Amino acid sequence: MTRNAKKYLHGPNPAISMNATYYKGQRSVYGRDTNPTWEHLEEEIGRLEGGLCTVFASGMGAIASMIVGISKSQRLFLASDSYNGTRRLSELLVKVGRLDLTYATPNDIRSKTFLNDARPGDIFFFESPSNPELNVYDISEIAAACKDLGMLVAIDSTLATPVLQRPLSLGVDVVIHSLTKAISGHSDVLGGAVVVADGDLDADFKLRRSLFGAIPSAQDAFLILRGLKTLEIRMERAVANASRAFSVLYDRIGSSELRYPYHPDSDTLEVAKSQMKSGGSVLSVIFEGAAQADAFVDSLSLFHRATSLGGVESLAERRAFHRGEDSTHPGLVRLSFGVEPWEELKDDLLSALEGVGL
Ligand SMILES: Cc1ncc(COP(=O)(O)O)c(C=O)c1O
Repeated sequence: MTRNAKKYLHGPNPAISMNATYYKGQRSVYGRDTNPTWEHLEEEIGRLEGGLCTVFASGMGAIASMIVGISKSQRLFLASDSYNGTRRLSELLVKVGRLDLTYATPNDIRSKTFLNDARPGDIFFFESPSNPELNVYDISEIAAACKDLGMLVAIDSTLATPVLQRPLSLGVDVVIHSLTKAISGHSDVLGGAVVVADGDLDADFKLRRSLFGAIPSAQDAFLILRGLKTLEIRMERAVANASRAFSVLYDRIGSSELRYPYHPDSDTLEVAKSQMKSGGSVLSVIFEGAAQADAFVDSLSLFHRATSLGGVESLAERRAFHRGEDSTHPGLVRLSFGVEPWEELKDDLLSALEGVGL
């Protein structure tokens, strides 16, 4: 929520600024460089994350602004469980000879062995929790180890949102979000954000946005701002639904088939509890194989069968269905919890489980 009641000139909402070119005082401004409606959104996200924010047309726009800007003399160490779009973009740049890429597996990251090869100026980019495996990494430990080597550390914190986790305070240099997900929260707009603590880095990202042209529209920035007003209360409800669903699934199908940051039997539970306020609104279930997973998703009636996550509607999908998800278990179903009444979600889940004999 906006904390300052007198913030906008006209009332509780900012104006949607529809100008490709305008004056700010004496200064002539071009609409690809900045826009007053984006600036309101940047201020809000920056306040939540505790840094300086640049908004983009999509999460991939934000990710591209970082990865495309990496020089050949710097190596990108990328977590191998990263979002498939991040991996596919990196591999595309390798293919055209523009990026020196090394994947770090979850074991490499936890043991920090990927750092054996790292040099000052290299970049480590990871997700915690990761999508869709929901692996959790010790953010402050990794950030400190990378910083000791003079590396830049970036995290995609989309699944946690700034309500649950604030990576800049844990030592990370660059925080990336897909605003398409919980931050906007209504599955009706795409957006992305980069948040940093350092002023020079911030200016660099704003320049890249302008030159790459990965800019959001003013209407999209307004919609994201509107969604942001209820982020905290939406997350509260969605997290409560996800954690109740986890308990039901745990009792019904057992421990090893479930992925959730606050999984009680996970080796990373204590780390998750130390850096995330709750387990989040997304959990993954590993079914026997594709056929059982598809049958489960088909049996759900309240959950939409759709990609994406973080919206007010609960969504379910078998991730390996998508291009770029070859390394994901064929039976993995990601459940993104919305804000529907818990009893209705519970009935839907239980009858879909029964439908596949579980
Ligand atoms: C973790 C994560 N990061 C980035 C993205 C890309 O965001 P967008 O779809 O807004 O480009 C996604 C999209 O699903 C995602 O799940």
